[in-house]
Amino acid sequence: MNFFVKAGKFIKSLPRVRFSRPFAIRLDWGHTNAVDAKGRLIATIRLYGSGNRIELPKTSSFTGHITIRGQGNRILIGENCRLAGEFIVKGGNQTVTIGEGTTFESVYVLSLERCDVTIGRRCMFSRGIEVRTSDSHSLIRKRDGRRLNRAAPVVVGDHVWVGLGSILNKGTIIPEDCVVGAKSFVNKAFTESGVVLAGSPAAIVKRGVTWSRQRRRRLSQDEMEAWRSCAPFNDEDE
Ligand SMILES: CC(C)(COP(=O)(O)OP(=O)(O)OC[C@H]1O[C@@H](n2cnc3c(N)ncnc32)[C@H](O)[C@@H]1OP(=O)(O)O)[C@@H](O)C(=O)NCCC(=O)NCCS
Repeated sequence: MNFFVKAGKFIKSLPRVRFSRPFAIRLDWGHTNAVDAKGRLIATIRLYGSGNRIELPKTSSFTGHITIRGQGNRILIGENCRLAGEFIVKGGNQTVTIGEGTTFESVYVLSLERCDVTIGRRCMFSRGIEVRTSDSHSLIRKRDGRRLNRAAPVVVGDHVWVGLGSILNKGTIIPEDCVVGAKSFVNKAFTESGVVLAGSPAAIVKRGVTWSRQRRRRLSQDEMEAWRSCAPFNDEDE
């Protein structure tokens, strides 16, 4: 093979580099990937595979890194979100959905093994959080060689506050209006809303609660229910 053929093959193997919006660098190794980013995007985006889609509406922002590997995956961000962190989606036909009005200070989201991540509306995720549908490696039972740690989707309901340093592992289900205490390891499905989950592994430590972005001595009934209406969050609330 002569030099020019080799050089041609090498150039073909390189991703297409695009600068979309002022601060987004997109490295695209596929063909029919779509980044529909109308909002503020300060990110590196790496797309390996085809038919993948990222949606960021005009009222939302994302700062960080996104990697998608595989076919037909989607990252769908709702209106009025302010998100920072890293999203990694590897597999096929998986969807990471973030509901409207949700904020992430620094969250690593890993959607693997055909399992979706679904985060509700008006959630507040603090710093150093991991949300993962898989342990990334296999835990094997020696007796019969079977894998014990099967991947599973993660579902977080509306208006959930996740404290700093927490891990929401495979199979996590958190109903609406819950709080996850700092550095908790959540690894199963909970069914009761209005509770504090804390510890490692997380368990219910308080019942009959709600939470607010504002620091207030007392909230009226209406104020406690205000998150149910879809008014955008206000940074001054924090
Ligand atoms: C979840 C939280 C808000 C609850 O506050 P609180 O109601 O004042 O909690 P309490 O101190 O009354 O704790 C109730 C029980 O849960 C336990 N608990 C609370 N948070 C816990 C945590 N993160 N991990 C393990 N156990 C925890 C307490 O030890 C206590 O147990 P006990 O009754 O056996 O003594 C708070 O503990 C927390 O984790 N705050 C961090 C929030 C955060 O990350 N902020 C960053 C900005 S978003």
